[in-house]
Amino acid sequence: MRVITLAGSPRFPSRSSALLEYAREKLAAVDVEVCHWHLQNFEPEDLLYARFDSPALKTLTEQLAQADGLIVATPIYKASFSGALKTLLDLLPERALEGKVVLPLATGGTVAHMLAVDYALKPVLSALKAQEILHGVFADDSQVADYQHKPQFSPNLQGRLDSALETFWQALHRRDIRVPAFHQQFEHA
Ligand SMILES: Cc1cc2nc3c(=O)[nH]c(=O)nc-3n(C[C@H](O)[C@H](O)[C@H](O)COP(=O)(O)O)c2cc1C
Repeated sequence: MRVITLAGSPRFPSRSSALLEYAREKLAAVDVEVCHWHLQNFEPEDLLYARFDSPALKTLTEQLAQADGLIVATPIYKASFSGALKTLLDLLPERALEGKVVLPLATGGTVAHMLAVDYALKPVLSALKAQEILHGVFADDSQVADYQHKPQFSPNLQGRLDSALETFWQALHRRDIRVPAFHQQFEHA
């Protein structure tokens, strides 16, 4: 089982990246292979000037093609996901998330914007043909007690993250069940 984690904050260390760090530890403990990406892996000019031949972009695209799932984390900026993350998502191939299970995570200063993942990020993930986009986890800043060192969250947030990761894990395994191709059923009929 292979998963990509993608940190969509322009800042590091960062609150939303701390959620991903927690997810990586949990998944690694159940033998999921995790490849971690963050915006700092890319040359800013490649993202700003839409350089589709960026070497890092090529590597990410190849790794995504081999992956079963994606966990993407973003801060909420101006009632949406970060613009820096959008510059990267814009460069991915149209079907980059085909067949993948996707779990979105977000942190924001106010719960007033907790639906930003649903109305802003999910449509983009859907445009990239994600197979299954799970309910996201939104944390307001007060729930992230520490993100500079070892991530520490409020019990409520930790519980919601654990539950989302379990759902993600189950979805990855559902995706893995080998069923015969639809057309094969007619061949044997
Ligand atoms: C430029 C900027 C715009 C922001 N806009 C919003 C906003 O519209 N809604 C909100 O809830 N939080 C907003 N915030 C707060 C961040 O979303 C919040 O602090 C988040 O946890 C930062 O995540 P990060 O540490 O991963 O970058 C904004 C922060 C910045 C720097």
